Amino acid sequence: MTGCRYLTPRKGGEETHDEDVSKFLPLIKYISGPYDADEGFQSLDEAISAYEMSKDDKGGSSKRLFYFALPPSVYPPVCKMIKRFCMNKSEGGWTRVVVEKPFGKDLESSEALSTQIGDLFNESQIYRIDHYLGKELVQNLLVLRFANRLFMPLWNHDNISTVQIVFKEDFGTEGRGGYFDEYGYFLSLLKRFILKFVQLIGTAYSESKYCKVTLTFTINFNDYPCSYRFTYFCLFVRIIRDILQNHLLQVLCLVAMERPVSLKPEHIRDEKLKVLQSVIPIKDEEVVLGQYEGYTDDPTVPNDSNTPTFATVVIRIHNERWEGVPFILKAGKSMKSRKAEIRVQFKDVAGDIFKPKRKGRNEFVIRLQPSEAIYMKLTVKEPGLEMKTTQSELDLSYRQRYQDVIIPEAYERLILDTIRGDQQHFVRRDELKAAWEIFTPLLHKIDNNEIQSLPYKPGSRGPDQADTLAEKVGYVQTHGYVWTTPTLS
Ligand code: BG6
Repeated sequence: MTGCRYLTPRKGGEETHDEDVSKFLPLIKYISGPYDADEGFQSLDEAISAYEMSKDDKGGSSKRLFYFALPPSVYPPVCKMIKRFCMNKSEGGWTRVVVEKPFGKDLESSEALSTQIGDLFNESQIYRIDHYLGKELVQNLLVLRFANRLFMPLWNHDNISTVQIVFKEDFGTEGRGGYFDEYGYFLSLLKRFILKFVQLIGTAYSESKYCKVTLTFTINFNDYPCSYRFTYFCLFVRIIRDILQNHLLQVLCLVAMERPVSLKPEHIRDEKLKVLQSVIPIKDEEVVLGQYEGYTDDPTVPNDSNTPTFATVVIRIHNERWEGVPFILKAGKSMKSRKAEIRVQFKDVAGDIFKPKRKGRNEFVIRLQPSEAIYMKLTVKEPGLEMKTTQSELDLSYRQRYQDVIIPEAYERLILDTIRGDQQHFVRRDELKAAWEIFTPLLHKIDNNEIQSLPYKPGSRGPDQADTLAEKVGYVQTHGYVWTTPTLS
């Protein structure tokens, strides 16, 4: 029941990595068992207890962390089993559970899941992980905004025209969509049947992103029994459920929230919640959905799928600070490039004396990945004899500025937080509910095919209509200016 998404080689290369892994592996014990039967969990408890008793304090401070690398549909039975058999048994200890998205597929299913888990564990024991909250530059938002006098008076609708929060990946579902092991002619007939079956299962499992189906069967061929195994992976990319409703909305909260009373997790989460609760219903005309051409070629995807692999959605926050400022959330798979960034664009200078020649607006960009950077686009005098303006930037590129610093992986930090008991970077139940409230009406319209996904070319910027929408709500694209990752000297 423990899981880790990836191990990244540390500085020093594979050698150190191998060394780390060889130290780590002997610490692991694998206990297997079904999700809903007593025996496996009893054995798990025995194994943990035996380990605890081997320690100096003989289990005096038993600390038990359960990380669910599981489909959410089995969270409730697993929670029940943990509660029955595997809770810590000491005064000074604790038991915590870490759960991954998807936490349901809409408001109703998410609330049902939250209630089931909430009946068994207190909020302080539940860690809902959103790995974007563990990214270095997402964590920096709080510091940037509230430790710099410079930004405080500017951070509002008087000065800011639009905020864009963008996530792009330059690969689609290829390699994850599905595969078949083919064994001869007549099995191809069976393949069709399985395909249909898998599609049905896929619909039933639509709350989960992946569904793995393995079928093993034996055929007597000239009295020689042959076993065949088909494994099918289905990927249900719903870009809104996968990226917008969680990762981008969490980032939006940190960009938009008021200054918390203190750095206590509850104070921070209180302010994030207020942002979510101030979001007004999304308008259909402020949504552009896309699906990259070729997505339905994947045999595990129904031919008439309307599933968006791209979305631009304008979020509007009805409060004193943000009235009138569109927050443009944009996410897409199979795009031109891979990056995630926040673009805070400022309004034009009032009574601008440089206007006819000025090239662009001030833009404060926080590049979350790759090549973490914070830069401010400025208009400056072009060096030379003429009084000409040009666009340049004040640039804090991490690779250049922090050359010897290892930036931890998001999961690395967040797992450490679960052990330390710091819930600041985890999603509270009421935040999750408010996030689903924002997107559920739109998701239901998409599920009912009331909003269509527009086709776009793989490797492009997404549908043109998305750029038109951003422009319509006030985003001004600067032409001719390109920020380049600084090279190391
Ligand atoms: C995951 C999504 O949460 O985030 C994936 O389920 C996506 O579809 C991934 O690829 C992106 O994470 P990162 O850290 O690479 O931006």
